[in-house]
Amino acid sequence: MNAIRAFIAIELPKVTRDALADVQARLSQQAPSGSVRWVKPDNVHLTLKFLGQVPVAQLDTITLALRRAIGGIRVFPFDVMNAGCFPDSIRPRVIWVGVDEPTGALHALERAIEAATAPLGYPTESRTFQPHLTLGRTARDVKPGDLHRLGEVVKHMKVGLLGHVHADEIVLFQSELGSGGSVYTSLARLPLAR
Ligand code: 2AM
Repeated sequence: MNAIRAFIAIELPKVTRDALADVQARLSQQAPSGSVRWVKPDNVHLTLKFLGQVPVAQLDTITLALRRAIGGIRVFPFDVMNAGCFPDSIRPRVIWVGVDEPTGALHALERAIEAATAPLGYPTESRTFQPHLTLGRTARDVKPGDLHRLGEVVKHMKVGLLGHVHADEIVLFQSELGSGGSVYTSLARLPLAR
């Protein structure tokens, strides 16, 4: 069956991506050489749901279900701030910048998307939703000492408030994996309520 790799995310404005690029540049100056595969700043987004392989024939059904599911959720702001590692700074795998949305609107949006996509065959994420912006992922075969140093660099980097984002739509993206990094193409933009 003809299928594509897809995920659902909130796009970031240019000003925020530029601020993330600065943080990334500071981190990469201090990180052990070759220890991180950095995400291109213009590709950084807030992932809400990774769908994986999606049959092309199902895309309209998914788009419609998402449109219905989020129609009652209002636009909301969130802050972009701080940095950290998953699973932790001892053995970092993902280097991220954090997202702060204290009202619960972002979590409600994520739950609505899970509820809309689960009946279509996309299992609900069992891990707690930890909204984040992935700046990079550790390279394979990094020496434990370098991993430890990388974790320390992230832990001690001062990353304050980088920006406010106004979330007013979600985007269904196609992801194509290539040797020069992933290419993301928006397939549908679905507005939140105003
Ligand atoms: P992350 O950056 O927040 O970690 C597109 O691949 C996006 O889907 C990535 O940015 C990644 O989010 C997210 N994603 C979540 N689970 C994934 C998985 N199992 N494989 C690839 N990407 C995944």
